[in-house]
Amino acid sequence: MQLEIQNLTHRYGKDKIALDNISLTLKPGIIGLLGPNGAGKSSLMRILASISKPGQGKVLWRGQNIIKNPDTLRKELGYLPQSFGVYENLTAQEFLLYLASIKGLPSKIAAQKVDELLEMVNLTDASRQTLKGYSGGMKQRVGIAQALLNDPKLLIVDEPTVGLDPEERARFRHLLSDLSGERVIILSTHIVSDIESIADQIAILNAGKLLAFATPESLLEKMANAVWHCIVTHDEVKELRRHFCISHSVRRSDGFHISIVSLEQPLPNAVNVEPTLEDVFLFHTHSKNSANTLENIAC
Ligand SMILES: Nc1ncnc2c1ncn2[C@@H]1O[C@H](COP(=O)(O)OP(=O)(O)O)[C@@H](O)[C@H]1O
Ligand SMILES: [Mg+2]
Repeated sequence: MQLEIQNLTHRYGKDKIALDNISLTLKPGIIGLLGPNGAGKSSLMRILASISKPGQGKVLWRGQNIIKNPDTLRKELGYLPQSFGVYENLTAQEFLLYLASIKGLPSKIAAQKVDELLEMVNLTDASRQTLKGYSGGMKQRVGIAQALLNDPKLLIVDEPTVGLDPEERARFRHLLSDLSGERVIILSTHIVSDIESIADQIAILNAGKLLAFATPESLLEKMANAVWHCIVTHDEVKELRRHFCISHSVRRSDGFHISIVSLEQPLPNAVNVEPTLEDVFLFHTHSKNSANTLENIAC
């Protein structure tokens, strides 16, 4: 069971290139799709969910071309779009039962499944209240529940943690870990901490291009000698910012403690430190790193 993305290119109008020749093979596990706003994450996910068709390229699910023949995929797909609308006059339970009937679940199975999912997303107590009174985080949890109605083998969730508070985020990460196994789960985000502890693989997307695709360990390994710590003055920080990618900066009594992501030693007194995934992400998406530098390190 795998999802193969082959040379996918997608444009809006003539000039706007949202996806630029993306190729990826996704196997069961959690894949974190990481990229800043506008990177192309939602465009890619809509194509993978067979909502929109790409300008060029192919997507194969279990070997079947989903662009020509989307039905095999749709039966096994759970999708949470980035903006998820609900019918505010329905209760969570009624809304999920309604979506279950659209997905063709027999009513007896649907009732049980809906109760199970409401429990899973911690909404059992509120399940008979209308969605009008739900907070953004609660609506998002309803969205996550609907994506799981058909026990999907391919689960695509687009920025699912937006609107969730830290506790809900943590609960959501646990939920995804519990669900992983024999499923391909794709989760997009621009927040590294959403995926660093749970993703089996991370794909970094920026300006429509796939810059890296590897396990978190291997991404970190490739950056082993590329993060530097040093203590500098305020004026030096300003100057360094013009030439380097500064991933952290903290003001202390002895000056600014900064981390610089660079393949070369940025200052004589700079010492190498362990990279974090945040450093990796910033390195790949930072404009100060030329395409040439990226090639040395991209996976
Ligand atoms: N319907 C659309 N029409 C025109 N441009 C679009 C449309 N949807 C997205 N874009 C543009 O395509 C690029 C990628 O957008 P998107 O896939 O939404 O990125 P992300 O989800 O990573 O924020 C952005 O520059 C965005 O402005
Ligand atoms: Mg998006």
